[in-house]
Amino acid sequence: MGILKSLFTNCACPQGQMGRFMLKFMNLCHGPLTNWGLSQVNFPDGWTMLDIGCGGGATLQRLLKKSNDSVVYGLDISEESVTKARKTNKDLLGKRVFVEQGSATNLPYENEKFDLVTAVETVYFWPNLPGCLQEVRRVLKKGGQFAIIVEVVDTNSKWTNVVEGMKANTPAQLKAMLDEAGFVQTKIHRKKPSNATIIGIKA
Ligand SMILES: C[S@@+](CC[C@H](N)C(=O)[O-])C[C@H]1O[C@@H](n2cnc3c(N)ncnc32)[C@H](O)[C@@H]1O
Repeated sequence: MGILKSLFTNCACPQGQMGRFMLKFMNLCHGPLTNWGLSQVNFPDGWTMLDIGCGGGATLQRLLKKSNDSVVYGLDISEESVTKARKTNKDLLGKRVFVEQGSATNLPYENEKFDLVTAVETVYFWPNLPGCLQEVRRVLKKGGQFAIIVEVVDTNSKWTNVVEGMKANTPAQLKAMLDEAGFVQTKIHRKKPSNATIIGIKA
């Protein structure tokens, strides 16, 4: 595998030295996209939030700043991501930040736990996305929101050839899947050139 392909394949499940490098890089370079995506949500104080595919944990920090007295949970399939996310959030770990290894396919949380679930640059890699959306709906409180934040919005994107296991959906396709999964009032927010945030509410 070429070095670039191997580097980008570490987006799907960061591992080893290259994975650690990608996690540092993503913590920084996903900042503008994530901050814009989160600006589409109104954050009351005291929320309980989950970031699925939390990577190096920078989104957990961003979520904490948005809602005073909040608690955030991070979940990632990669052990390397979990280690990095715990390190990034070490000051509040076990107090307001909880990070676990696991998959979007089978969320290790009880029903109706969260006010907000976020997924930044990760739904491309989730197997059985419709099944994962049902899982997200299960762990959301009634009226809770799910925000999908992506910047690859073209099904023929070159990234899907470069990054192993990556599948892109258009914002309209993601909205249709959220509607199908029973989310309501789903809205698509766009920022040029390709940033998209799709937010659905659990009725
Ligand atoms: C491109 S990275 C994005 C990381 C982070 N959200 C960010 O914006 O920097 C994708 C992350 O999703 C995780 N991931 C992939 N498939 C997953 C799954 N089925 N369940 C949970 N996490 C998953 C990967 O391990 C990786 O850390």
